[in-house]
Amino acid sequence: VQVVEAIEALRIARHQLPGRVGLVPTMGALHAGHRSLVKQAQAENDSVITTIFVNPTQFGPEEDLSNYPHDLSSDLDIFRDAGVDLVFVPDRFSIYPPGYQTYIEVEDVSQGLEGAYREGHFRGVATIVAKLFNLIQPDVAYFGQKDAQQVVVIRQMVRDLNFPLDIAVCPTVREPDGLAMSSRNAYLKPAERIAASVLHRALNAAASAYEGGQRNPKMLREIMHDVLQAESLARVEYVSVADAKTLRELEASSEEPALLSLAVRIGEARLIDNMLLPLSLNELGGATTVLGQVS
Ligand code: PAF
Repeated sequence: VQVVEAIEALRIARHQLPGRVGLVPTMGALHAGHRSLVKQAQAENDSVITTIFVNPTQFGPEEDLSNYPHDLSSDLDIFRDAGVDLVFVPDRFSIYPPGYQTYIEVEDVSQGLEGAYREGHFRGVATIVAKLFNLIQPDVAYFGQKDAQQVVVIRQMVRDLNFPLDIAVCPTVREPDGLAMSSRNAYLKPAERIAASVLHRALNAAASAYEGGQRNPKMLREIMHDVLQAESLARVEYVSVADAKTLRELEASSEEPALLSLAVRIGEARLIDNMLLPLSLNELGGATTVLGQVS
């Protein structure tokens, strides 16, 4: 694996890579979810580039930027073992030099869900992802379904700004008890880690009701709330049933694909998770096409 830190070195190394190039952008603290993105990128491309950059502009002032887990040498080992071709590890000042002024705002789809609780988050995500697309010029970029709204925001940006690339979405990778893999799971103390499976249990309860014919979004939200409320360590931020393409909250029963999503604080960790309904969308690679799709 070739590791580059400087932008000029990146440009040279990128142009030496053969064929179709897949990009897996990360903030490090790698887990099995990242490995699955790399695996899919390798299966579909001639070369794979990954990035490790804890992007300060996507963290709010009260958020965990300074504590965000990091272990660069272990992350590089993981990418080396996975057979990644090139890893870009820029420092903060080469990405945001003094005097930096340009940011990308993706409007409607950034407003609800995570956007309502994390002001400026998607402005930071869109900005860094656009910069990485410009610097690396991949043919396809890979993101996890766990950050479903991020996928919708990035797809919107790619359409609006005419980036010549595809966005691929990979299924959420879960622990045996259903907890979605996340770098932030490292913040959970042992009892909190056990409690954290409640997110997946809440999604499953609503999915079972949906499979049984329940289409009323208010009822589906209530089912998730009830499961979450039974877990004393869980503090709910939001529970949502939204149109999977637009992310607008569903008010009436609908047969359109729905995105169930939730954000819950447990101890120091703020956890998010989601599920696409009908469940067949999760199994047949439906997330690839549905999230953020133009109607
Ligand atoms: O999903 C993430 O890890 C980050 O939001 C991303 C896409 C690497 C941008 O910093």
